[in-house]
Amino acid sequence: MPIPDTLDLSRIPRHVGVVMDGNGRWATRRGLPRTEGHGAGESALVDTTYGALSLGVRALTVYAFSTENWRRPVDEVRYLMNFNRGLLERRQHELNEVGVRITFSGRRDWRVPRGVLRRMDEAAELTATNTALTLNIGFNYGGRAEIVDAVKRLIEDGVPAHKVDERAIASRLYHPEIADPDLIVRTSGEFRTSNFLLWEMAYSELVFSEVLWPDFRREHLFAAIAEYQGRERRFGAVEG
Ligand code: IPE
Ligand code: IPE
Ligand code: MG
Repeated sequence: MPIPDTLDLSRIPRHVGVVMDGNGRWATRRGLPRTEGHGAGESALVDTTYGALSLGVRALTVYAFSTENWRRPVDEVRYLMNFNRGLLERRQHELNEVGVRITFSGRRDWRVPRGVLRRMDEAAELTATNTALTLNIGFNYGGRAEIVDAVKRLIEDGVPAHKVDERAIASRLYHPEIADPDLIVRTSGEFRTSNFLLWEMAYSELVFSEVLWPDFRREHLFAAIAEYQGRERRFGAVEG
């Protein structure tokens, strides 16, 4: 899929966030167990990552498992844990070769199996010096949990109340070095953000796609970016 010439390459979002939703419905519509939908999401993730790379997007944050997803049946949770470990095993070397830095946002709590954490550390370490694109995976991620964790760090750092400002909080989020997302895409026709990048998305443009995540490909990313480029960002100011 070539880059459409309708895209303005001088206005590519630096950071795109994606709520990868609709796996369960994709599978159910085919008479398959929900977990098959998660499995089918792998090609969507890889193709979207290559699409982002081809445009020069600097960072892609994908929501893979939320702090609320523990509420799902234990078999599905177990599948998702193993699947995410397997995905890293299958893809980390290829992504490393094309210059992708893999990072993670989320809580490393006792519920995440040790083997999964190990694989995450390994992928992060392997790709740490890459600079083409940061693929930041939201895993056991919650926007509120991230803010709570930042506030805990503020207290641990002994920051006095009069020194608490937006910078003090932002610098204690999981990845302060990644710019705020310019664009957030959610698939599957749901119009909510489900606790994704709560702090960081204050001024993000939101694009909602009807496509179920396993069917999502780079052309859908390009279409979302075209929609983004048609928006006027004001940041609270008056155009002029
Ligand atoms: C998104 O697909 C994947 C995760 C939340 C882990 P869903 O599993 O939420 O699919 P739907 O929304 O039920 O179709
Ligand atoms: C959001 O999708 C979380 C991920 C994509 C990982 P959900 O399917 O969990 O969100 P809700 O429950 O529809 O809000
Ligand atoms: Mg869902």
